[in-house]
Amino acid sequence: MNTDDRHSDRLDPGQLGLGDMDPESFREHGHAVIDWIADYLEGVEDRPVRPRVAPGEVRGSLPAAPPEHPEPFADAMRDLDELVMPGITHWNHPSFHAYFAITGSGPGILGEALAAALNVNGMLWSTSPSATELEELVLDWLRQLLGLRDGWRGIIADTASMSTMLALAAARERSGLDVRQRGLAGRPDVPMLRVYTSEHAHSSVEKAAIALGLGRDGVRLIEVDERYRMRADALAEAVREDMRFGYRPIAIVATVGTTSTTSVDPVAAIADVRDEVVAELGHDVWLHVDGAYGGMVGICEEMRWVLEGVDRADSFVTNPHKWLFTPIDCSALFVADPTALTQAFALVAEYLTTEDEGVTDYMDWGVQLGRRFRALKLWLVLRYFGAEGLATRLREHVAQAQRVAARLEANEDLRVVAPVPMSTVCFLADPGWLAVPEPDPDSPPPDDPAAAAVVRRGVARDELNRELLRRINGSGAALLSHTVLDGRYVLRLATGSLRTTDDHLERTCALIEHELAGLRGVA
Ligand SMILES: Cc1ncc(COP(=O)(O)O)c(C=O)c1O
Repeated sequence: MNTDDRHSDRLDPGQLGLGDMDPESFREHGHAVIDWIADYLEGVEDRPVRPRVAPGEVRGSLPAAPPEHPEPFADAMRDLDELVMPGITHWNHPSFHAYFAITGSGPGILGEALAAALNVNGMLWSTSPSATELEELVLDWLRQLLGLRDGWRGIIADTASMSTMLALAAARERSGLDVRQRGLAGRPDVPMLRVYTSEHAHSSVEKAAIALGLGRDGVRLIEVDERYRMRADALAEAVREDMRFGYRPIAIVATVGTTSTTSVDPVAAIADVRDEVVAELGHDVWLHVDGAYGGMVGICEEMRWVLEGVDRADSFVTNPHKWLFTPIDCSALFVADPTALTQAFALVAEYLTTEDEGVTDYMDWGVQLGRRFRALKLWLVLRYFGAEGLATRLREHVAQAQRVAARLEANEDLRVVAPVPMSTVCFLADPGWLAVPEPDPDSPPPDDPAAAAVVRRGVARDELNRELLRRINGSGAALLSHTVLDGRYVLRLATGSLRTTDDHLERTCALIEHELAGLRGVA
């Protein structure tokens, strides 16, 4: 093999032959990589949470073409440090509070490495029996931890988006239209199909509808109440109205822990509506529960109320990679009856047939053939922390969010604008000193001057909060995100990281106040 002479004395023996990295070199680089990871995690707090790079900067700093000749492993690690790390957003940073503050963990990271080392493909039971059986076992452990009834069966997908899509594909099949065989296009016998979910549901529900040929028009968004929970009465009304107009309801998606505010839909009341509709329609209407983030908090006994009614659903997703310290990706999809998935997806090519009886072949449960051994990292996480250790940590994250909410509320210029049932605080700055622009003298006077003044104040407040977020995030000391609630631009602060302490949260609250005070002069 050709080598680049500049590197020849620094290459591993394995790079010179036709095989892999030789065992001695693997050991040496492996130790260095583990040290690197340990140093990184230990020192992550000293880095800015958000990188300060311009679009294209990272890519532009790296060669556009692949290396012609082998390069020393250490050179790639040096470039990782010097060129790649400056463009990393540190989700591991204790002051990362944007979106949902997910954390991997030591056992989870090591589990990823072990799964990569084994590199098994769990498409069939026989392609690695332990991969399939550990996946079944670990999901049953998770079911027990969540207090769900016996009988749920699980599969690990990459993301909740994929889990929800699989669930809705099963729902589509259950509606009796044989879409699996006949498709949807060009069929006069197929009415408009509808999936119902709240206006606060995650966009993955609509994306699933796009992918499954239901279209965005096939999703009807249901109003929420003042606590951002789906209104079961509005759901019942919407379904009945659709039925009068000839739509066919095929699924309802309830959310336990919505993305903006972590609100919890009344799953039991929604299941009642589903049961009534099924009785009237005479065909199945699937109930899927999206607990991608918030479902996990059911591990804490006193929070288990969030899962009330979930046992009546057909499927339920919750993501260990969001709030169970498992590195991304790992999404647990539970189904009450796995034949709903296999009826939608099982398709066994001759070269995949086996003679095994009574086993689970996970390739039949979804779209993917090749499947990573994700169960291994989840198994290590569950064993390492134990049920009590997990519950204690989740409980602390919820308590942290409560303390942050109280801390922010104590400031008269800040307002917490949604209930805080889990780990996410939605708030906005609404200071008395906010300068509201005078009405435009050239415009005709508004019909209702008081309402017009409220609108002008709302616009000014949104702009203030946008700028506040820019300044907080631009500081590099913390990262928050935003949402819109009732038309208002709102900031979100999520706890949930294993590294976040009250000291970190106090510093972030002080930063929010500092940046807001700095805006007083310019707002
Ligand atoms: C409620 C909810 N559902 C689904 C998702 C999508 O998750 P994933 O990234 O695993 O697809 C999210 C992401 O935050 C979410 O909050």
